[in-house]
Amino acid sequence: GITRHYKFDIGLKNVTRLCHTRSIVTVNGQFPGPRIVAREGDRVVVKVINHIKDNITIHWHGIRQLQSGWADGPAYVTQCPIQTGQVYVYNFTITGQRGTLFWHAHISWLRATVYGPIIILPEHNVPYPFVKPHKEIPIIFGEWFNTDPEAIIKQALQTGGGPNVSDAYTINGLPGPLYNCSAKDTFRLKVKPGKTYLLRFINAALNDELFFSIANHTLTVVDADAVYVKPFNTTTLLITPGQTTNVLLHTKPYYPNANFLMAARPYVTGQGTFDNSTTAGILEYESPSDVTQNIKKLPLFKPTLPTLNDTSFATNFTKRFRSLASPQFPANVPKTVTHRFFFTVGLGTNPCPKNHSCQGPNGSMFAASVNNVSFALPTTALLQAHFLRQSYKVYTADFPYEPTSPFNYTGNPPNNTNVSNGTKLVVLPFNASVELVMQDTSILGAESHPLHLHGFNFFVVGMGFGNYNPSKDPAKFNLLDPVERNTIGVPAGGWVAIRFQADNPGVWFMHCHLEVHTSWGLKMAWAVLDGDLPNQKLSPPPSDLPKC
Ligand code: C2O
Repeated sequence: GITRHYKFDIGLKNVTRLCHTRSIVTVNGQFPGPRIVAREGDRVVVKVINHIKDNITIHWHGIRQLQSGWADGPAYVTQCPIQTGQVYVYNFTITGQRGTLFWHAHISWLRATVYGPIIILPEHNVPYPFVKPHKEIPIIFGEWFNTDPEAIIKQALQTGGGPNVSDAYTINGLPGPLYNCSAKDTFRLKVKPGKTYLLRFINAALNDELFFSIANHTLTVVDADAVYVKPFNTTTLLITPGQTTNVLLHTKPYYPNANFLMAARPYVTGQGTFDNSTTAGILEYESPSDVTQNIKKLPLFKPTLPTLNDTSFATNFTKRFRSLASPQFPANVPKTVTHRFFFTVGLGTNPCPKNHSCQGPNGSMFAASVNNVSFALPTTALLQAHFLRQSYKVYTADFPYEPTSPFNYTGNPPNNTNVSNGTKLVVLPFNASVELVMQDTSILGAESHPLHLHGFNFFVVGMGFGNYNPSKDPAKFNLLDPVERNTIGVPAGGWVAIRFQADNPGVWFMHCHLEVHTSWGLKMAWAVLDGDLPNQKLSPPPSDLPKC
């Protein structure tokens, strides 16, 4: 591989959407941010310079970061933030991944505007395991806020209050024609008849899983989270925040004399509806004689999307993803397990601190937790403490392997909603084979939780509704061709079982990729000890690693 150099200048820029102009945080003045393009095996070096008054870090979401934990980016987990005027160089090699990932700010809610695609091409002269596309187009979903999202979250955390609401969803930064004052901010995908396009979808939205569809066109899914999957056809995608999906779009063999709306809107299981309407773009066939389009106003066909709470579509779609599990692209699922975990994930409550006006149930503060631990980030970086053997100052190694009191969320009002704050980690020996079942507790609002793991891909070996049954469900696990990814939705009122090999020393964050849930504490971290293979050691921190 080669080394690819990028420079990210973090600065403010005035951007107008929905007739509101806001000064937003950007990279190089771009919104969405610049693309990173690399081949599998390349080294990527990104020099980040912070010109704003807030602290920042950048996370390379889904990049395995083998032995390069210092470049992972979550604030107070692998690094202290880059302060005003400071520079930090992220340096990592892309190993064994090909497809689409993305980068985003990983501190507070700055990722609302600070995000962009990572395109990973196969090595030179290595073809895709599918037809060679005529063109490749990244399509990145986001959210637009007419007011400052940082102010929204600050207020929400201070009052212990309800969910944020953005003002629009966006496609490549554009809300599209279905919103007021937005027709000119519409993403247009221009295609030719009879060709295959590779669309690289990314959900960078803060708080919503999204359905997506293009009128009168079928999509062939070929890759998820930068791992090839067995191809399958669908008219609608579901994509959770933190997930990426590559699809092939075969255009019609003739010039269709119509345009086609593409649209995305949320999948929300709970009643707390965050539906801020629908973002849309337009698929346009470039006319053979360009005159046609200008003279004729072409009809616009519209897609149908599943309803807001269509869990059966969501579940069936999620279950269709399978690894190629071929000799060239094997699924290396851990067959035996050395460390077994059962985590409850969901919302809960904290006592309301004095002098706050808390908006949670019975005057409490909203919280979110894993095994009733609402994770508190330290004021220094976990990885540094771990590396310097000073963990005792920063965290404890007693994160519960299962809920401390028996799992019982069935009462009305539900039991076990009380959570306590803690900075607790699971410490794993190098190369542990981990099985983790995550059970949604479905209390205080029933939403799926897109759980994202840093530092590893995992295999999704099982999934179901109701309570996980440890004596029956494991018999049904798929150990042959389970999908391999970095983010999976734990269904509302259901569970997901994953397996991964802890072959990457360091400290690795795991959290719900709904930003509001992360802020409330639905997060935890794994420390993986150094291996005895010499090339598995975590190297010392780079000299420019920011200090707290
Ligand atoms: Cu894309 Cu820790 O997140």
